[in-house]
Amino acid sequence: MTAPIAIASPDDRLALPCGGSLAGVVRVPGDKSISHRALLFGAIASGETRIEGLLPAEDPLSTAACLRAMGVEVSPIEVGRPVLVQGVGLDGLQEPETVIDCGNSGTTMRLMLGLLAGRAGRHFVLSGDASLRRRPMRRVTTPLASMGARIHGRDNGNLAPLAVLGHPLEGATITTPVASAQVKSALLLAALTASGPTTVIEPAHSRDHSERMLSAFGADLVVDPADPRRVTVRPGARLRGQPVVVPGDISSAAFWLVAGAITPGAALTVENVGLNPSRTGILEVLEAMGARLAVVNPRVVAGEPVGDLVVEHGPLRAFTIGGDLIPRLVDEIPVLAVAACCAEGVSRISGAEELRVKETDRLAVMARQLGAMGARIEEHADGLTIEGGGGLHGAELASETDHRVAMSLAVASLVARSDSHLRGSAAAAVSYPGFWDHLAQLRR
Ligand code: S3P
Repeated sequence: MTAPIAIASPDDRLALPCGGSLAGVVRVPGDKSISHRALLFGAIASGETRIEGLLPAEDPLSTAACLRAMGVEVSPIEVGRPVLVQGVGLDGLQEPETVIDCGNSGTTMRLMLGLLAGRAGRHFVLSGDASLRRRPMRRVTTPLASMGARIHGRDNGNLAPLAVLGHPLEGATITTPVASAQVKSALLLAALTASGPTTVIEPAHSRDHSERMLSAFGADLVVDPADPRRVTVRPGARLRGQPVVVPGDISSAAFWLVAGAITPGAALTVENVGLNPSRTGILEVLEAMGARLAVVNPRVVAGEPVGDLVVEHGPLRAFTIGGDLIPRLVDEIPVLAVAACCAEGVSRISGAEELRVKETDRLAVMARQLGAMGARIEEHADGLTIEGGGGLHGAELASETDHRVAMSLAVASLVARSDSHLRGSAAAAVSYPGFWDHLAQLRR
C-alpha cells in the first residue's frame, strides 16, 4: 500500500506519517559548497563562467544576490538551466549602495569577507538573517586583520552586521583556530590580491573544494603534498572563467542514505553524488555500522569524484566518531544521530563542538527533538551519546529554523511507532528545495 503523502497544513505543521517503506531512484540537487564557490570565483575571474547543476536553493541564491548587488551579471538561477556568470576580474566588484544580505548563509558571509577585505577604498556592510547574525565571524575577521583587513562589527568584530573598509592586504602565514573550510577559503580569497604569499595551516583537513576550483581557475595555489592542511597562495595570477559542473551534494544524499539504511524494506539509489574524500566521512561511518551500501559507477566530473550510491535496509551497529573525521562529515551529524537511534548499542560523537555554531546549536536541537521522540540521547559540550535500539515514537517536532534538522527529523519520523508533525519544514529550502517532493515520490 502507498503511504500517504506528507501535506503541509496552512499553519506550517507538516504531517509526517510513520510506516511504509522507501524505494526508487533519486537525484539530489547540486553541492552547496561547490555552488557558492562557482558563483564567487566566476565573479572575480575574467570572462564567462558557465555553471551546470548549480544548487537552486536559498543559500546560493543569497551568494548570487550579493554578487549582483556589486555589479556582477549572474543569469537567473532556474532548475535545469546552466547559470552564466560574467566575471568582473579580481578587483572589479563595485561598492554596493546598501547592506549586502547574506540571508541564512554562513558560507556566503565568510567567503565574502575574504573577498572584500582587500578591495581598497570601497566600503561594504554585510548582514543576514537572525541565525546568521548570531554566528561567530571572529574566526575570519581576526586572521584577516593579521593581513591588514579593517572589519568592524558587533561584539568586537565577531557578529554581523559587519563593515568592511577595503584596504590593501599583506601576505601572511596563518594557523587557523578551527578546521573550517569557510575560514580557509576566506583567507585564500584574501590572499589572491595580497602583496605577498600567504600560507594557511588548518588544525585538521577540511573540505578542499576551494583549492581544487581556484587551481582550475588559474590561481597560483599549492597544497603541501606532505600535509594537505597547509595551502599556499601567491598573488598575481589572473583567474579565467571556466565551465563548472556541480555534482550532487553528499550532504543532501546523506538523508536518503540513512533513510534507506534504517527503514524496513527500503532500497534506494542516489545518483550523481559528489564523492570528494574530504566529504565522504558519512560513507565510512555507515559502512562501519554495517549498512548495506555500495558506490557504483564511480567517475570524475570536472575535477571532482562522483558516483551513484545504492543503499538497502539492514541491521546497524553503533558507531564512535571524533577527531579529524568530524570535518569530513560535519553537516551529516544530525542525520547520523537519527541512524544511531536505530543501531544496536551506544553511539558516541565527540569533538563536534562546531555544531553549536551552525545555523542552530545542532547538538542541543537534535537532543531536544529526538528526545521528544523518546530517543535515549545525552548532550555533551562537544557531542552526543545515543543509546540505540529502543525505537522512536511520533511527536510534535520543530526544525527550529534549521534545514538539516528539518530533513533529519523527517527521516526519523519514517521509523517512529506513531505519526509526527513538523513545524518549520520550509527550512529545507535552504539547501534542498525539492526534499519534501522527493520524500513523497520515494514512499511506498
Ligand atoms: C562549508 C563548510 C562547513 C559546512 C558548511 C559549508 C563550506 O562549514 O558546515 O555547510 O562550503 O565551506 P565550516 O567551514 O564552518 O566547518
